[in-house]
Amino acid sequence: MNIKDLEVIDNCDEVDFEEVNHILNFYGLSDLDTPTQEKVFRNSYVTVFLRYKDKIVGVGRAISDGITHANIYNVAVRDEYKGHGIGKVIVDEILKRVEGCNVTLYTSPKHIGLYEHWGFKRLKTAYVIFADETHYKEAGFIDCSLR
Ligand SMILES: CC(C)(COP(=O)(O)OP(=O)(O)OC[C@H]1O[C@@H](n2cnc3c(N)ncnc32)[C@H](O)[C@@H]1OP(=O)(O)O)[C@@H](O)C(=O)NCCC(=O)NCCS
Repeated sequence: MNIKDLEVIDNCDEVDFEEVNHILNFYGLSDLDTPTQEKVFRNSYVTVFLRYKDKIVGVGRAISDGITHANIYNVAVRDEYKGHGIGKVIVDEILKRVEGCNVTLYTSPKHIGLYEHWGFKRLKTAYVIFADETHYKEAGFIDCSLR
């Protein structure tokens, strides 16, 4: 595939959320039903969808005040399109739309190196309260050594 043929969409009215939800559910990044997923994206400050040949191949979103801080979530690329630079395009398109903000994200343990590769720095002072702490603890998101 040619990355130049990707269409960048940032308007929720222009996508089929069944497709969006399929990508996120496939990786277990979300277990929401489609109407709830649509609400999550519509409530976000930035949404980015990449379309290739009439198919949504990548998604991402950020919540933000639009001026000082933004937090990126749900960056995912359709499985058969991974490794072509689409993930980087999603993150860059989100960053463009929150220019000037401090941008944070948390990721799964296996993607830590990836975000460093894309210019993100590790935070020494981040804290989190997860709604479902047990799940995130078991999945290795929380540094229990600091307790
Ligand atoms: C993470 C994800 C979005 C990346 O999308 P992608 O389109 O495959 O990524 P890209 O092709 O844009 O970038 C891959 C680059 O990162 C590098 N990379 C990948 N994993 C890496 C890691 N763990 N450490 C360092 N670099 C890594 C690759 O070598 C490649 O580098 P290059 O562009 O210089 O060749 C995609 O793999 C995905 O959807 N994963 C499942 C969903 C998920 O878990 N998302 C959570 C992210 S918060």
